[in-house]
Amino acid sequence: MSNQQRPVAARGPGPSGAESDIGLRVAGVTVRFGGNPALEDVSFAARRGEVLALIGPNGAGKSTMLKTIAGLQRPSAGLIELQGEDVSGVSFRGRATRGLALTFQIPRSATALTVEEQVAGQAKGFTHVRFSRGNAALARVADVIERVGLEGAARKRTRDLTLGEIRRFEVARALVNQPRVLLVDEPASGMSSDEAKQLVDVLRSVADSGVTVVLVEHNIPFVSALARRTVVLSAGRLLIEGDTPEVLASPTVKEAYLGQAAA
Ligand SMILES: Nc1ncnc2c1ncn2[C@@H]1O[C@H](COP(=O)(O)OP(=O)(O)OP(=O)(O)O)[C@@H](O)[C@H]1O
Ligand SMILES: [Mg+2]
Repeated sequence: MSNQQRPVAARGPGPSGAESDIGLRVAGVTVRFGGNPALEDVSFAARRGEVLALIGPNGAGKSTMLKTIAGLQRPSAGLIELQGEDVSGVSFRGRATRGLALTFQIPRSATALTVEEQVAGQAKGFTHVRFSRGNAALARVADVIERVGLEGAARKRTRDLTLGEIRRFEVARALVNQPRVLLVDEPASGMSSDEAKQLVDVLRSVADSGVTVVLVEHNIPFVSALARRTVVLSAGRLLIEGDTPEVLASPTVKEAYLGQAAA
């Protein structure tokens, strides 16, 4: 893949649901931890250019699902397809090479390196000639840092970032190699409402460029602002999926969350 910005047609989810429009397919995924099922026969698909929300009470299996899609967690059954290609047997790195990127619920990235250095360290095609002019990878680094609104913090050490800044830095890192599928685990958590609004715009523009975004988030206004469709997990099972407003209004979903509050 070249270092140039890929010309990706902006397309919405569209009505067709044709095979070629599928960015990500998860089929029959089951994950067990020592015999306890964290995910049980879960299937869903997300189109190119779509933000699909994955919500559910604590412990529902959302992060486990993202890790399984990314190749960090091996399922005991099920398939993962990336734009029609079965990547179930492909490693985490192999999936990253094929255009899959994720951000973690608990960021582990804070170091003595600066935002710019760390994003660059992740960028494909970045050479040891650090921050030299004309390096195409460097242009991409500056571009993603600006896109997430961190240009003022580009020279800050990542260990000195605020939580909101860390989340945006994580998104910049995930975007620097121009993924086809982006998985984000609670990206708005710890953000101010202004930061969250800015992140809505970032993720929307990412999706509008043709990327499939799977959004795990407890912040419901954030979900409503971004995702036309939502999948709900509860105790490892797919409870319901559909248009976000209908899913959020569903008594089954309210009950699942109430069950948690009562627990
Ligand atoms: N590495 C692991 N070993 C054992 N059990 C695990 C492991 N990771 C997750 N689990 C269990 O699997 C279930 C699903 O966890 P997961 O982290 O996927 O939930 P979640 O939906 O992301 O929750 P939250 O909203 O709190 O982030 C939980 O019961 C959790 O304790
Ligand atoms: Mg989680």
